[in-house]
Amino acid sequence: MQLLLQAAQVYRTKTKRFEPCDLLIQDGLIQEIGSRNAFDSFHGPSLRLDHFFVTPAFTDIHVHLREPGFSYKGTIASETRSALAGGFTHVLSMPNLKPVPDNMDHLKVQLDLIEQNAACEVTPYAAITEGQRGETLVDMKALAPYVAGFSDDGRGVQDEGLMRQAFLLAKEAGKPIVSHCEVEALLHGGVIHDGAYAKAHNLPGISSESEWKMVERDLALVRETGCAYHVCHVSTKETVDLVRQAKKEGLPVTCEVAPHYLYFTDLDLQDHGRFKMNPPIRSREDQIALIEGLVDGTIDCIATDHAPHSAEEKNLGLRGSSNGVVGFETAFAASYTSLVKAGHMDLAQLIDCMAIAPGLFAKGKAPEIAVGEPANLVVLDPEAVEKIDSSKFVSAGKATPFDGEMLQGQVLYTIYKGEIVWEKERI
Ligand code: DOR
Repeated sequence: MQLLLQAAQVYRTKTKRFEPCDLLIQDGLIQEIGSRNAFDSFHGPSLRLDHFFVTPAFTDIHVHLREPGFSYKGTIASETRSALAGGFTHVLSMPNLKPVPDNMDHLKVQLDLIEQNAACEVTPYAAITEGQRGETLVDMKALAPYVAGFSDDGRGVQDEGLMRQAFLLAKEAGKPIVSHCEVEALLHGGVIHDGAYAKAHNLPGISSESEWKMVERDLALVRETGCAYHVCHVSTKETVDLVRQAKKEGLPVTCEVAPHYLYFTDLDLQDHGRFKMNPPIRSREDQIALIEGLVDGTIDCIATDHAPHSAEEKNLGLRGSSNGVVGFETAFAASYTSLVKAGHMDLAQLIDCMAIAPGLFAKGKAPEIAVGEPANLVVLDPEAVEKIDSSKFVSAGKATPFDGEMLQGQVLYTIYKGEIVWEKERI
């Protein structure tokens, strides 16, 4: 099976720049890269992409696929197809499942479902503690070969002594600790950021301290143990400062931010579940720090925290709705609009945050558009503008704060293993 991509701006990993060239794909791999129109005599299937950009497909290192255990929210089949629609061909799935992947038998249930149903590549995280209860550590050595790392995402590990042991074991197993940072004693029943909106609407607030206190604790453990450490969904300016300092010290630390924290502040909140996630959308100062963190490399990756829920679970306002919003199908447009269109970075830097750095995290090797590499690619139109309508999402989850927003930047095609697996409907 062959496919020719003609006359596009192609992202070159070595120079981190775009160059006009043609790509010939065969049997899932990039077979040849030629100058523009180099393959004039080729008569197989081709896409003419004059004004568009071809880059490595995106990797999302923080997603919730809901199976096993919660298929009423979404399934591995529905959510991986949603990932492809967003330009993602590899996702790392979080372990808040039933059963929790905390031993080989439980993990096997998930791996079998992935094998049967996944439309893109999926690598699970195993839990740090049994049942994510924060009491007993899992057998990291046994699980390590099958997982991207260890995380109790959805809950922070509260016990410092247990977390120290987790760091030591994860280091031995050669995998990162991927930490949902949240000090439960500091939550006080909060539902949204403890800021202007919470005060104005008399809602209990979630302090920034509940996040950064645990980041601070964990970074001390990284200093002590040397274990690779990743901070999930950074939302506060204090966390950005802590990670920046840790990186200056040379600690093996990475972190991620989700597009909704870059686009919205707590002043944009509405009393609807589609604005409810954990951690919450924070203040304008936090947002500025997150953008600065991405621009200066303190924050490595954009990850969506894609988290589908049923309509009933999201229909209970800010107080009563479940935490979590879907993110795959708006990730590129939301990030492009908040970062590139707003003038903070260029498209190549955004590709670094959505494809190169997360790809490196997921596989230990940055994706490249080079001869012999897998043809996992996206075709992007940075100029296209669209009003988001979540009823059209592929995902089973429809709750997104981006509903109704005009966003710029579109994924026109997703190519996975050399085949077109997503094509944007265009008028
Ligand atoms: O908003 C969130 N949703 N935050 C989490 O930590 C968990 C996730 C979920 O699983 O729904």
